[in-house]
Amino acid sequence: MTDYGAIRKRYIAGGKQSTLTHVEEVADTAEWLGRIHGLNIEKLRLAAMLHDVSAVLSPDEMYGIARERGMEIDAAEEKYHFLLHQRISAIMAREEFGVTDEDVLSAIECHTTLKRGAGMYDKAVFLADKISWDRGGVPPYYDELKELAGKSLDEACRYFIKYQFDNGLLLMPHRWITEAYEELENGNV
Ligand SMILES: [Fe+2]
Ligand SMILES: [Fe+2]
Repeated sequence: MTDYGAIRKRYIAGGKQSTLTHVEEVADTAEWLGRIHGLNIEKLRLAAMLHDVSAVLSPDEMYGIARERGMEIDAAEEKYHFLLHQRISAIMAREEFGVTDEDVLSAIECHTTLKRGAGMYDKAVFLADKISWDRGGVPPYYDELKELAGKSLDEACRYFIKYQFDNGLLLMPHRWITEAYEELENGNV
């Protein structure tokens, strides 16, 4: 049984009330997508609630953990340490919150970049995070992304990643997003 109270407390104790509000919104959006696409709602809500839990750490602390553990660090992560937050959140989910479900851990781990061979849970959490935008205002892709996500997770992922590439929104593309995009473009999903 998931202890959502402990998860909420972790955000609050880390001074991340706004991140908590964001992950709760992502959980609701993920649930909406899960009902449309026939996914397990509990898995989606758990992944959503933990996807940004590493926000309680600084980017340099994330980088320190990645180095300490000998994790393979992508050039984009090397340059922008906060890009590690997806992978560090997955480690925290497993080690601090006892999550063992691989669908949940995987969805947390690739929520920013997606990855090659991404599954339905990965895609649903990735999209829910983008639809529940947390940086103020309504992003220009919002309506189309939401509409597409209600129809096809693959189409919506492809649309969003293409949008990021076409509009130069990626500071430095992480290998995972490039690979995910190639796969979606080639229809190998
Ligand atoms: Fe995130
Ligand atoms: Fe997020």
